[in-house]
Amino acid sequence: MKFISIKEAMKKASGKVSIRGWVYRERGSNKFKFLVIRDAENIIQCVIKKEKFEEVKFAEADKIQIECALEITGTIKKDERAPGGFEIDVDSFTVVGWCDNYPITKDQSPEHLLDYRHLWLRSRKMNTVLRIRSTYVNAREEFFKNKGYYKFDPPILQPTQSEGGSTVFEVKYYKDKTYLSQSWQLYAEAAVHSLEKVYDTAPTFRAEKMKTSRHLSEFWMVEMEAAWMDLHELTEFGKEEIRYCLKKVLENHEEDLKFLGQDVKKLKKVAEKEWPTIKYREVLKILKEKSNMNVPFGKDLRTGEEDEIMKHFDTPIVVTHYPKAIMAFYKPRDPDNPEEALCFDMLAPEGYGELIGGSQRSMDVEQMKQDLKNMGEDPKNYQWYFDIRKYGGVPHSGYGVGLERVIAWICKLDNIKDAIAFPRTMLRWKP
Ligand code: 4AD
Ligand code: MG
Repeated sequence: MKFISIKEAMKKASGKVSIRGWVYRERGSNKFKFLVIRDAENIIQCVIKKEKFEEVKFAEADKIQIECALEITGTIKKDERAPGGFEIDVDSFTVVGWCDNYPITKDQSPEHLLDYRHLWLRSRKMNTVLRIRSTYVNAREEFFKNKGYYKFDPPILQPTQSEGGSTVFEVKYYKDKTYLSQSWQLYAEAAVHSLEKVYDTAPTFRAEKMKTSRHLSEFWMVEMEAAWMDLHELTEFGKEEIRYCLKKVLENHEEDLKFLGQDVKKLKKVAEKEWPTIKYREVLKILKEKSNMNVPFGKDLRTGEEDEIMKHFDTPIVVTHYPKAIMAFYKPRDPDNPEEALCFDMLAPEGYGELIGGSQRSMDVEQMKQDLKNMGEDPKNYQWYFDIRKYGGVPHSGYGVGLERVIAWICKLDNIKDAIAFPRTMLRWKP
């Protein structure tokens, strides 16, 4: 008999079905063995009745424990009492993978669950988050395809920093050294002078000495870059992207989001509302007036300030025009206000921090050389990047979305570590 998913079996609702999966729960008596089987998406109760089996076969059933893998054939019927609303009366079963003393039981510490991450991925929580993440990434592909963007894959080994030398991971490269990508951006800037509109989802590495619930050392950045685009168009595009993907998740995962503890009604309202754009200077004003917090112009907004400002908003907001002095070398000065940069961050509500960072890109090679020197970088190493300006350079802009930050926000996760399958942080890089 052909195996079908639990979802398909429940759709069929009656008659003979063959399913396969892992034991999610089990209990037995001397007459019955009840198994709740899970597959990628659903669970279903199966009952093995002693009267239908030879003694040795029922003895085998009796030994089945949590996480045993099984193939089952039986008759499905509706049963209001069963979890999921259906039950399979088992005719035959094969244990494909035995499981003895599963190392994960109830109420284990987060550290234990991280040590056993390879097994914890099977938990309903991780399974749900990873399915939502998959939907999100697919939605994003759709979004960019609909907008006529090209998928462009950057190198991961890069000879220079782009986001500050203190957070690069150095890699031994034959007799030389190179770095793991902090962002695809410099390469995307080269690409838009050929393809005009590009996007990608790529692994990103930051040796951040941060032990917060929002920082990973390896994460996935979903980036875009477009020729001819200015800051205003860029920020509106960023809102459109996140809103589009959020709506797709809401359409497909209402029950999953509820299971994760998300307030779906509230999130749906967020998806419909206007998301404001304000300047950094306005943030300082609001912090002063509403939060009694004195932040001088020129100080970056860190976790504390971001959390405080977001107490006054219930949707994501875009903050533009941060002080140039604390921004990356490629962010241009605003010609009207040279101490401000033509850049933005998108901040999430409810303490999820910065979702997006982006900017127009500087065309002022001399200024960039000076900024790089001030950072202790040798501008010679960026000659190829300056060539992009020298040979038919056009105005262009782009941004990067921290995928795990967005997933943590949408899924209402306590820690960004649960937004990725195998998290790498300052203190954790195994298994
Ligand atoms: O703001 P960032 O550093 O911007 C850039 O790297 C630009 N070059 C992107 C671009 O314009 N193409 O990083 C972008 C986003 C942040 O807003 C944040 O969401 C996420 O990447 N991010 C992190 N996520 C998890 N862990 C970390 N350590 C992160 N650092 C940045
Ligand atoms: Mg940033």
